[in-house]
Amino acid sequence: MKGIAILGSTGSVGVTTLDVVSRFPERFRVVAMAAGKNLEVLVEQVRRFRPELVSVATAELARDLKTRLGGEKIDILYGTDGAVAVATHCDAQFVMSAIVGAAGLRPTLAAAKAGKDVGFANKETLVIAGEVMTRAVHEAGVNLLPVDSEHNAIFQCLEGRQRGTVKRIILTASGGPFLKLPLDRFVTVTVAEALKHPTWRMGAKITIDSASLMNKGLEVIEARWLFDLPAEQISVVIHPQSVVHSMVEMIDGSVIAEMAIPDMAIPVAYALAYPERLPMTHLKPLSLAECGPLTFEKPDFNRFPCLRLAFDALNAAGTMPCALNAANEVMVAAFLAGEAQFLDIARNIETVMLRHSNQPARTLEDLIETDGWARAQARELLGLHTHAA
Ligand SMILES: NC(=O)c1ccc[n+]([C@@H]2O[C@H](COP(=O)([O-])OP(=O)(O)OC[C@H]3O[C@@H](n4cnc5c(N)ncnc54)[C@H](OP(=O)(O)O)[C@@H]3O)[C@@H](O)[C@H]2O)c1
Repeated sequence: MKGIAILGSTGSVGVTTLDVVSRFPERFRVVAMAAGKNLEVLVEQVRRFRPELVSVATAELARDLKTRLGGEKIDILYGTDGAVAVATHCDAQFVMSAIVGAAGLRPTLAAAKAGKDVGFANKETLVIAGEVMTRAVHEAGVNLLPVDSEHNAIFQCLEGRQRGTVKRIILTASGGPFLKLPLDRFVTVTVAEALKHPTWRMGAKITIDSASLMNKGLEVIEARWLFDLPAEQISVVIHPQSVVHSMVEMIDGSVIAEMAIPDMAIPVAYALAYPERLPMTHLKPLSLAECGPLTFEKPDFNRFPCLRLAFDALNAAGTMPCALNAANEVMVAAFLAGEAQFLDIARNIETVMLRHSNQPARTLEDLIETDGWARAQARELLGLHTHAA
């Protein structure tokens, strides 16, 4: 019986993880869960999965949760320390890292340092602190199992291959809802339009990132750390059907792809059961004959400047990816709140990057400082000095 801790249990990946866990009760037991503010969903999850420990974002929410749970015998914590306690729970062998954004950094790092295998959905952690995180993973000798469908695909394609035989990896991108939108229409893009992802159902932040292609940019940086490859060996191709989840090109010209229906249950199940595989018999099988033509095209860096900015940050290295991520988190929150236009996202991130004096990113402290600085810069650009993202 594998003990599972879930960071971000109430989110899209968290709910999918619980669904997979519930289908294999003889293999998995949920021992701890961390969420943010969604007590409605969390209370139901606690009653159903009976973890020993649960954590929420604030002390006030923790008090409210305690009242709602009445006499349930469970430890309730809050804040970053609470999420760290969930990530390091003594009965957890596997931690699903699915908190969105920089809030996932400390608990994910703590999980690796505590010797837990990590199912890795929270890409922002590797964008911010790739060097610090991968060092912790190597020192602790744990598995970092990619849950992002693209990285999970590459992980599977690379299994059993020798490093030197890989020429490059090719991340596929659906292109999001604005793939064919004329450039002059981007100025009037609404939140509702940006939230309509053509192939995946996901949380709001990653859906906006997918519309701007920043999600692919973050994934390029994530891939650099997960697979220890330089930017020149990482490329992106647009594939609107989201059937080929990514590919690896070998030095002899062979290209190995992983394909499946676009359902996060597949990479989640892969990470949970690694190195075994779970029979996911409830899922619709992939029928290539039914899904129609599979198409591929080059990404347009002019229409999607966020992708270019992410490659720039990766090439700059140091604290630049952290600055990019922090500015993006502030801008996406502002866009979702109706306080910024879609085009402001890339524009303000670029300004923050131009202002940033890049430093080596060796310690968590270097990164926390940059994160705070870049958030303040992005807020200043928005004219929202006191507004927290
Ligand atoms: N969704 C996907 O299909 C998908 C695919 C690949 C990668 N990812 C990555 O996985 C991560 C999660 O994505 P998602 O789509 O599942 O996001 P989501 O639906 O927005 O869920 C985010 C989760 O994080 C929790 N959270 C937010 N702030 C928190 C805090 N300060 N402390 C504790 N918990 C906090 C939320 O809690 P409340 O809701 O309770 O506030 C929620 O459980 C992201 O990094 C994303 O890029 C997602």
